[in-house]
Amino acid sequence: MKKIITVCVLLLAPLTVLASGDGMHNLSAEIDLNNKASLQRGAKMFVNYCLSCHSAAAMRYNRLSSDLGLTPSQVEKNLIFTADFSKEDLGEPTKIGSQMKVALRPGDAKTMFGTAVPDLSVVSRARGADWLYTYLMTFYLDDSRPSGVNNQRFPNVGMPHVLWELEGLKKPVYETHQIEGHDHKVIVGFETVVPGKLSKVEYADAVRDLVNYMAYMGEPAQLVRYSVGLGVMFFLFILFIVAYALKKEYWKDIH
Ligand code: HEC
Repeated sequence: MKKIITVCVLLLAPLTVLASGDGMHNLSAEIDLNNKASLQRGAKMFVNYCLSCHSAAAMRYNRLSSDLGLTPSQVEKNLIFTADFSKEDLGEPTKIGSQMKVALRPGDAKTMFGTAVPDLSVVSRARGADWLYTYLMTFYLDDSRPSGVNNQRFPNVGMPHVLWELEGLKKPVYETHQIEGHDHKVIVGFETVVPGKLSKVEYADAVRDLVNYMAYMGEPAQLVRYSVGLGVMFFLFILFIVAYALKKEYWKDIH
């Protein structure tokens, strides 16, 4: 019995690691990887708003066609906006079999943003969908930052608020909280200063689609894995019935 309890406690240990963090609660992204329309909208947002600075080199465009239910020509027309400069100086249109890369050179990124721009292929696995959702929902105006904005989830981030046209611009609402005997200014909400093209609900939906796409991109095989997993469970269930019947047959004369 003691052993079982020890094993249970050890199995639960990773949860405490997940629960610890910097104290800020993430918003819930509520993504749905089976929603192909959402993944398609997310892919469109990703290539339009993110792929100009970030690459996603572990992903190839043609995989989007098979996984997201698009034809190769739909992918070429709607999702490929980059050029390939590896062979010609003037560049040739990126081919559908290419990786999702950008022309921005790491050195230039450092000069422009003061830091390298990370590849986003597997960022959803490093950060988690809820983190990404919270990050994209909590950019706020801050004059002290070079880009004019700061982020509640990632304080002093080097990235500008690239979705500001959609969301608009907001300023933080502070409250003073006592933490360990000291006064701390804590952000408790936001107030819109410049309205964006989308309403609050529409913006949240658009970000959810984008995060859904990034979660898919972090592990494209998970779409297949779920359906294969169900098949395997069903197979094991049938196998169990057959094996159990066989066991009964073998042992019936022994007792
Ligand atoms: C103008 C260039 C630019 C664009 C466009 C851009 N980013 Fe960024 N992004 C950056 C820079 C620079 C950083 C590094 C910030 C830092 O480390 O301070 C960054 C960091 C990030 C990070 C944090 C990565 C990590 O784990 O540290 C995420 C997530 C991210 N960007 C997502 C996005 C998404 C999603 C989009 C599209 C909506 C996007 N970015 C568009 C420049 C950009």
